[in-house]
Amino acid sequence: MAKLRVAANIDKLSELLSQQDVELAMLIHGRLKNRLRAGDFRDLAGKLLEEAREEDKLVRVKVTGPGGEYRLYAYKGMIVGAVGETSEGVLLGPKALQVLEDLREAGVIDIWEVDISALPGEVAEALGAARPSEARPPPPRGWIGLELGGFRVVAIHSEKGALNYILRAEAPWGEVVALKIPKLQPGRGVGGLEVYRLVSEAQAMARVATVDRRLLERYLDLMGYTRDLASTLERRRDNVVRVYAIHAPLRSYERAEDYLYRPPFAAMELADGDLLELERGEARDELVSALAGQVGGALALAHAIGIGHFDLKPANILYKRVDGAVMLKLSDFTGYNRVDGRFVVNLFTPEYSDPLLIAARGRGVRLDSDVFNLAALLYRVARGAPCYCIWALNLYLLSLITNRPPPDQVLRLLTSRGEAARYVEEVRNAVTLAMRERLGASAVLDRLRARYEECIRSNTSRLREPLRSALRRALTLNQRARPRDAVDFYARNLLSLA
Ligand SMILES: Nc1ncnc2c1ncn2[C@@H]1O[C@H](COP(=O)(O)OP(=O)(O)O)[C@@H](O)[C@H]1O
Ligand SMILES: [Mg+2]
Repeated sequence: MAKLRVAANIDKLSELLSQQDVELAMLIHGRLKNRLRAGDFRDLAGKLLEEAREEDKLVRVKVTGPGGEYRLYAYKGMIVGAVGETSEGVLLGPKALQVLEDLREAGVIDIWEVDISALPGEVAEALGAARPSEARPPPPRGWIGLELGGFRVVAIHSEKGALNYILRAEAPWGEVVALKIPKLQPGRGVGGLEVYRLVSEAQAMARVATVDRRLLERYLDLMGYTRDLASTLERRRDNVVRVYAIHAPLRSYERAEDYLYRPPFAAMELADGDLLELERGEARDELVSALAGQVGGALALAHAIGIGHFDLKPANILYKRVDGAVMLKLSDFTGYNRVDGRFVVNLFTPEYSDPLLIAARGRGVRLDSDVFNLAALLYRVARGAPCYCIWALNLYLLSLITNRPPPDQVLRLLTSRGEAARYVEEVRNAVTLAMRERLGASAVLDRLRARYEECIRSNTSRLREPLRSALRRALTLNQRARPRDAVDFYARNLLSLA
């Protein structure tokens, strides 16, 4: 009898087939995978193979297993296909694999789209006829056309986020909106952490975008600000991406089926694009004003009610054109996590993150880190490139913490300008020395403090006022000299820039 083994990808399949005792291996996917786990399938596959060895023709067997119906195909002693009632999946013998490999090498197929016309004619025909009409590719493509919690998915909007897919979908009220769905993490799938993050992010955004005016006044009053500020900030509610729905049942997403048909998602307003795209077409000065007034105001609003962002970067600032004017929208509060009433940060972007936070490995986060982040972003928009004083320092702090050298590619980018090269060299030397002395990141930071402040002073010297003082105030490593939070930064610095 043939020994049946299961593979989830083509490399594993090749490996199995090269083992002496395995005559038959199977490439499986999706629903078929779950159903075939039942295992009592083996005998049938073996019998089929024997039968096919004797007859020089296509053999087809209908199998009714515990989970449904399958058709198996064998040809000249090899099993060439299996098609599940509702699913995608191909069962392959050693020769069929060769055909598949050749096609893959020629770039004709990817793993799941076998070009069956390249199989022997008779087989191809039978497989074609048997192919289930509703076979779906895996997510994110498989989501297109599905209705998820009342939202009909029309397209994939963005796959570039590290943690999430963004889809475009039609809401029950006709508006085309964005659906945010956590990506499967290698070896882990989507689990409690991803769902928790999605929900806490969406709730944070919704709270900022709908904050009550009287509550805001009360908070600001307690912090010592006037009512005028409350009315200015209240208008910034529109500068946070609006959340329409959170659909996040707490369940396990291990089964591909659940992730495809019932994924956790947050539905929100669809923006026209992000700051990375906008930067290419817009005048810098106008963008600096918009960033300071609109995003700075939205961040101040968040801070006023105790919500931090902690991952401000161009890809997380969206925009919409309203009557020709650019409206910026703060988005992606994925960095916002609260554990036991404290903020916890575990995502760092070397170009913009607060070095103090990196040195502390994300612990003891304070709102002034967000202010630093916003200032680093303002610098980038004003000068057209991230500030290398921050970028290089963070890269090496991260390298010290993770014990891995910074990526060459990034270093090349960073040192492409003359003044930067010397600074990068100094930071690297300090970190190398610290490694030898077994010093931690905070000690390194202490040694580099003065050099960093000098770097910031010189780098901001060509900026006009009041931008220059705003950035110098926020980008210092002296935490006590920084604005305490975005409300402080907004009231004292950003308002005059807007
Ligand atoms: N509501 C939206 N409208 C339009 N584009 C969006 C929207 N949300 C996100 N995007 C795009 O998708 C990208 C990734 O989304 P994001 O929320 O930042 O997820 P991640 O946590 O994976 O970074 C963003 O950089 C942006 O370009
Ligand atoms: Mg993002």
